Amino acid sequence: MRTVTVKAGKGYEVRIGRGLLPEIGKQIGVVPGVRRVLVVSDDKVFPLYGDTVLKSLTDAGYETDSFVFANGEASKNLTVYGELLTKLCDAGLTRDDLLIALGGGVTGDLAGFAAATYRRGIPFVQVPTTLLAAVDSSVGGKTAVDLPNGKNQVGAFYQPALVICDPDTLATLPEIEYRNGCAEIIKYGVLDGEELFSKLAEKPVSEQFEEVIERCVSIKRDYVEADEFDRGLRMFLNLGHTIGHAVEACSDFTIPHGQGVAIGMAAIARASVENGLCSEETASRIIELLKKYSLPTEMPDYPVTKLAQAAGSDKKNTGASMRLVIPQAIGNCTVHKIPASDFPEWLRKGGAHE
Ligand code: NAD
Ligand code: GLY
Repeated sequence: MRTVTVKAGKGYEVRIGRGLLPEIGKQIGVVPGVRRVLVVSDDKVFPLYGDTVLKSLTDAGYETDSFVFANGEASKNLTVYGELLTKLCDAGLTRDDLLIALGGGVTGDLAGFAAATYRRGIPFVQVPTTLLAAVDSSVGGKTAVDLPNGKNQVGAFYQPALVICDPDTLATLPEIEYRNGCAEIIKYGVLDGEELFSKLAEKPVSEQFEEVIERCVSIKRDYVEADEFDRGLRMFLNLGHTIGHAVEACSDFTIPHGQGVAIGMAAIARASVENGLCSEETASRIIELLKKYSLPTEMPDYPVTKLAQAAGSDKKNTGASMRLVIPQAIGNCTVHKIPASDFPEWLRKGGAHE
């Protein structure tokens, strides 16, 4: 088992290792005084791993219950959040009890926000079952649900008490979800430097899950510890995300997040070359690695004006600025402040169409 300790909130461990899931009852012993556990999961993950988790918890002497919702981003909303709070109330859980988020980022964000707000906060454990959740969303304490007018509009910074990542659960992950996770992993490679970047180029992530997850979580841990509440440094984790989010929004979220990030990273690398901030060699290495993982790198056919609108740059007053994360070299990213009115030109240089 590999362990990464995160000093945020009350401090917690991220435990990564094959075979941890059937041992979850023993693992959660680090959270003191717990008697009852509510397992929150979606209707794809629960049938795969729910019984293993419930049995392990029961064997360890916990009283258990579960809350299962329809899988997908559409469930990350106030209605399902309200149903989950009602379930917590009906089950009579107190601040001494525990909630377990068993699933991907949707489950973690939703269950985490319920844990943050139910009775002003009860402990929760993240059990990521997607690659994206393993390397990103299960660590760092961002919890949220969406509103009809935007993603993650209601939420809280609330750190888990423990993260248990069992890479065996990734065996059932659909190929598209694996690739979405790989886009975020390549982002960590660009932020971190040659060692991780070359590792990803040499051998597929699927052949080195534990090592890669541990490295990515450690990188994220450093940003989170430096800037828990996302006021500065944590912004680096948004490499590729400004253009990526715009692409996702223009597609009405039919383009998944990982693909948006891949397109966004390729576009910002190209635009950075055009603006003299990044070498052609760096940009082509990023784009080649994305392609190696079958991730898209070309801007889809959305007009610049629509993309700029989706990124919010059109709404900003004259004189307002935007911050873009620039990949100057592998392992050397900077934050570049631009007038919001310049963003459409960055999109064009990144390969967007009129
Ligand atoms: P997800 O939770 O919807 O999971 C993707 C799909 O994979 C779902 O259909 C799910 O049922 C299925 N699945 C999950 N684990 C599986 C497994 N082991 N086997 C088979 N199928 C499995 O999506 P995601 O990509 O994990 O997360 C996306 C969400 O994460 C978004 O809502 C995003 O906003 C959020 N996010 C949060 C943070 C954060 O810091 N909190 C960071 C990044 C993303
Ligand atoms: N996913 C970016 C962050 O946690 O800040």
